[in-house]
Amino acid sequence: KGKRAFIAGVADDHGYGWAIAKSLAAAGAEILVGTWVPALNIFETSLRRGKFDESRVLPDGSLMKITKVYPLDAVFDTPEDVPEDIKTNKRYAGSSNWTVKEVAESVKQDFGSIDILVHSLANGPEVTKPLLETSRYGYLAAISASSYSYVSLLKHFIPIMNPGGSSLSLTYIASERIIPGYGGGMSSAKAGLESDTRVLAFEAGRKHNIRVNTISAGPLRSRAAKAIGFIDMMIDYSLANAPLQKELSAEEIGNTAAFLASPLASAITGAVIYVDNGLNAMGAAV
Ligand code: NAI
Repeated sequence: KGKRAFIAGVADDHGYGWAIAKSLAAAGAEILVGTWVPALNIFETSLRRGKFDESRVLPDGSLMKITKVYPLDAVFDTPEDVPEDIKTNKRYAGSSNWTVKEVAESVKQDFGSIDILVHSLANGPEVTKPLLETSRYGYLAAISASSYSYVSLLKHFIPIMNPGGSSLSLTYIASERIIPGYGGGMSSAKAGLESDTRVLAFEAGRKHNIRVNTISAGPLRSRAAKAIGFIDMMIDYSLANAPLQKELSAEEIGNTAAFLASPLASAITGAVIYVDNGLNAMGAAV
């Protein structure tokens, strides 16, 4: 029987979430995605108008099918958490049931259960500021959108995840090594995400037989990465210094995600898996 995946954090065809969706689809999974509410309209319109058709092509020539797109804002857990200015914001008012709890309930109603949960989202309003210049608001917002969002997703989806299921997030080496430019508390958020991966692996493994891992990905020119402003430099740095001197493709992260979600990875949980052409192993620039 085919597996069903929910991938949170897909709003175009440039990021890791899209590539993960494709690799899971190529392996036979049914694809549901969660799209940030303010980006929903343009994503759905582009999908409908065929703007992504070229990047929907799977290895067998067929087009990836996204069974359903759910609006999602992963910084809100329940409707009671949503402040008035967001509720009445016109980019949000057109959608409903987009808090984490409600999305999990909708997926349950529509499909009953899932097997694979992917968290491919992050946000840090002050990411371009050094940590020393980051406000408390900016720091907590980064943690809320980039770390707690994962705890919340897993917490609300676990009751509808089939035993033997697999959950996965995306992290970055700035959690453990100094990457100047990755500011605003985003490095702190990724450190939290990686630590939580271990604790959640224990709790979800013991209680529900669910595996929890995170992929530490190398640099990709996604929409989010372009907003940070240093992505081209990081790609050049990797090309110059990593053991494998090639540009990293999003598909390589997608394929690792498909492996981690499959029975081939049945003993892997609580792990940070590097998919970065080996850059993490270097101790000096060449
Ligand atoms: P992306 O722009 O494709 O994905 C980020 C997604 O997060 C976007 O679709 C955005 O709409 C969504 N999002 C932001 N705030 C949200 C919220 N409150 N609720 C729901 N969705 C929200 O960019 P990318 O780079 O593919 O990011 C995916 C993951 O990969 C992130 O966790 C990122 O930190 C991680 N990563 C990216 C690297 C890169 O070089 N691009 C390197 C290592 C990790």
